[in-house]
Amino acid sequence: MDYGQRTISRVGAPGTHTPANGGPMTDRSAARAPRKILFASQKGGVGKTASAINVATCLGLGGYRVLLVDTDPIGSVGACFGTTVAPGHPGIYGLEQWDLADLTIPEVALNLDLLPYAEDRRAIDLNSVYRGLDELGRRATGSYDFVIVDSRPSVADMTRRLCQVVDEVVVVVQCQPMAYRTLGGILGQLRDARSDGAPARLLGLLLTMVDPNDAKQAQLEAHIRRSLGQAMMPISIPMDDAVKEGVMTDRPVVIMRPDAPSSIAYQEVAQFVVAAGQPAA
Ligand SMILES: Nc1ncnc2c1ncn2[C@@H]1O[C@H](COP(=O)(O)OP(=O)(O)OP(=O)(O)O)[C@@H](O)[C@H]1O
Ligand SMILES: [Mg+2]
Repeated sequence: MDYGQRTISRVGAPGTHTPANGGPMTDRSAARAPRKILFASQKGGVGKTASAINVATCLGLGGYRVLLVDTDPIGSVGACFGTTVAPGHPGIYGLEQWDLADLTIPEVALNLDLLPYAEDRRAIDLNSVYRGLDELGRRATGSYDFVIVDSRPSVADMTRRLCQVVDEVVVVVQCQPMAYRTLGGILGQLRDARSDGAPARLLGLLLTMVDPNDAKQAQLEAHIRRSLGQAMMPISIPMDDAVKEGVMTDRPVVIMRPDAPSSIAYQEVAQFVVAAGQPAA
């Protein structure tokens, strides 16, 4: 694909990209809108990307059609799958000119397509990302069950704004006192977004890199669960070197070592995500 030919408009009608194989809940005729889920944090390096790519991969392995979107100029999502982004690829910024199917890297894992960050790694343009995520809801309808969005650490009111154009937010927080202290900021942005009328709801706080051998962390986890109760996802992600090995070998840990403790936890998070979208009995 030559992304230099910007004079050619390739924007297609919504849902023109027909996926190769459908997931169990996929009813193309109903053309249900995908669930757009943002992985967000206030602090950097807390495991957002690891969580977004592994949950997305688990959902794909479970038979759901998933689009994974990178909105972080670092572009680490593509790197986690060992993909090369084509020169001039505009990423999410190309949605005004290109058909979604021309922008995605198909099948980076089973049932999982990737919309990478722009190849030139330009500074984030929040207004364009906002418009792109809004547009994705329409374009992905009928092709995807989930749109999983990885983001950079939230600066200013980034999360507050993006809450207007996603359905759910997973707030990722490392099991460390410093990371815990930043929680008020991001939860405040979510609250402000809701009072602005944003549709996004908190899917849950995901605690990551919990060291099972560290008594202080066990105490901190218990404290966080007591204080935040229902807002917490019931599963935490343990500290696990296999996550880093996955990054080294260009494969999410859930594919590289499905029986690793972190993989089992990510599989459970994906089940939680699916269950949270089912109508109440
Ligand atoms: N459960 C885990 N066990 C061990 N290492 C982990 C785990 N989760 C993530 N890591 C490692 O921690 C580092 C930060 O993770 P990651 O890149 O996912 O964080 P991030 O929140 O996306 O960072 P950024 O804010 O820079 O985007 C990476 O080296 C990653 O491999
Ligand atoms: Mg990241």
